[in-house]
Amino acid sequence: MAKQTVITMPGDGIGNQVLPEALRVLKVVGFNAEYIHADIGWECWRNEGNALPDRTIDLLAKHKLGLFGAITSKPNREAQAELGPELRGKGYVYYSPIVTMRQKFNLDVCMRPCVAFEGNPLNYIRKRVDGKFDEPKIDTTVFRQNTEGMYAGIEWTNPPENVRGALASHAKFKGFAHVAGPDLAVSVRVITRPAARRIVTAAFEYAKQRGFRGVTICEKPNVVRETSGMMEETAKEVAKNYPGIALWSTNIDAQLMWLNKNPEEYNVIVASNLFGDILSDAFAGLVGGLGFAASGNIGDEVAVFEPTHGSAPKYAELNPPIVNPIAMILSAAMMLDHVSEGAKAERIRKAIAAVVKQGKVRTYDMMRLSGGPKAIGQGAAGTVQMTDAILEELR
Ligand code: NAI
Ligand code: MG
Repeated sequence: MAKQTVITMPGDGIGNQVLPEALRVLKVVGFNAEYIHADIGWECWRNEGNALPDRTIDLLAKHKLGLFGAITSKPNREAQAELGPELRGKGYVYYSPIVTMRQKFNLDVCMRPCVAFEGNPLNYIRKRVDGKFDEPKIDTTVFRQNTEGMYAGIEWTNPPENVRGALASHAKFKGFAHVAGPDLAVSVRVITRPAARRIVTAAFEYAKQRGFRGVTICEKPNVVRETSGMMEETAKEVAKNYPGIALWSTNIDAQLMWLNKNPEEYNVIVASNLFGDILSDAFAGLVGGLGFAASGNIGDEVAVFEPTHGSAPKYAELNPPIVNPIAMILSAAMMLDHVSEGAKAERIRKAIAAVVKQGKVRTYDMMRLSGGPKAIGQGAAGTVQMTDAILEELR
C-alpha cells in the first residue's frame, strides 16, 4: 500500500485526548501513513475569528483524508464575547467548522455504524415472555445525507418581503398569512435528486458489500410529500440496480418505535439529513452511546472520519483522561476501510470486541459511573489504559 497522508485535527477538549489514542492503534496495525496536524475549533475562532482556517482547508484539499476529534461551539453571544479583543466588533461571525467542512468539500455521504459489541453492559436488552432477556445483535449503519435537507441553512425569522411573497403564492400559506413577520420563522427543507441518488447508492453499495438482504429508506413521504417523496422515489429507482437487495420503506416516527422492538432487523438505513441525524443517535444509544459512535463524512474527493461525540469540556482537563477512546478508534478503522485497508480495520474491530467481551478494562461510561475525577478510583479504566488493552489484543 502506498504511503497515505492523513490530516489530523484533534480540535478542542477531549478531541485532544482521543485522537492520539487512535494514532497509537493505527501505528500498531502497521498503517503506512504520515500525519500532518491541522488547527480547527474554538482556539482558532478566538485567535483568528475563524474556526476553520484556510491553511486547514488547503491541507485537506491537498491530501484528501482527515481524522477529526471534536470541537467546542457556543451560542453567538458567547462566541462574540470570547473573541480576542483585537477582533471584536469587526464583523466576525462564528460558523461551525464541521458544517463548513461538509459543505466546502461536499462531504455529502455520512456513514454512521451502530454495532453492538458482545458483553458491553450498555447494550440494549429486551425482556422475553419467559421473563429472561434477549440481547439482540445489532449491526445497523445509518447513511445520512450530510449537506442538504433541514440543515441546508436556508432559514429566516421575519422573512423578507420577496420570500413572504413567494410563500403566499402557495395555497397552504393562507393559514399563516396573518402572522406578523417577527413571529414567523421558516426553515427550508431542500432535497436534490443527485444528492438523494448518491446517499441511496452508497447505502446499497454497502449492503451489497456486506451481503445484507435489504436497505430501509426512512422518511415521511405520506406527509412531507415533495422532499421525502423525492427521497423515496429516488430510492426505488436506485434499488432497480440491485436486484438481490430489497428496498424497505419506513416512516421516521414508526422507525423510532421499531428500533425499540426489533432493531436487529435493520442493517442499512438511509435518510435525509435531520432524520438521519436523529436515527443514528437513536441507534447509537442501543450499542453504547457516544463512547462507541463513529462516523465518516465522505465526498467524491475528500473524506473525514470522526467520533460523533463533542469536546466534553467538563472532562477535558482531567489528568489522567477518563473518556472512552473507542468511538475515535472505530472512526480511524472506518478511515482504513475507506482507503482499502479493510483487513487492518477488521483487526482493530476484533481487538475492541475482545476487550469489551473480556470486560476487565472498562471506561466509566461502560460501568455506568458518572464521569469525573473519582471515576478511576471507582474502578474505571482511563482513556490510555483502554487503548493499551486494545493494543495488547493487537500484538
Ligand atoms: P459531548 O458529546 O461533548 O458530551 C456529552 C456527554 O457525553 C459528556 O459530558 C460525557 O458524559 C459523554 N461523552 C462524550 N464523549 C464521550 C466519550 N468519548 N467517552 C465517554 N463519555 C463521553 O456533547 P455536549 O456536552 O453537548 O457538547 C460539548 C461541546 O461539544 C459543545 O461545545 C458542543 O457544541 C460540541 N459538540 C461538538 C461535536 C463535534 O465536534 N462533532 C458534536 C457534539 C457537540
Ligand atoms: Mg447529532
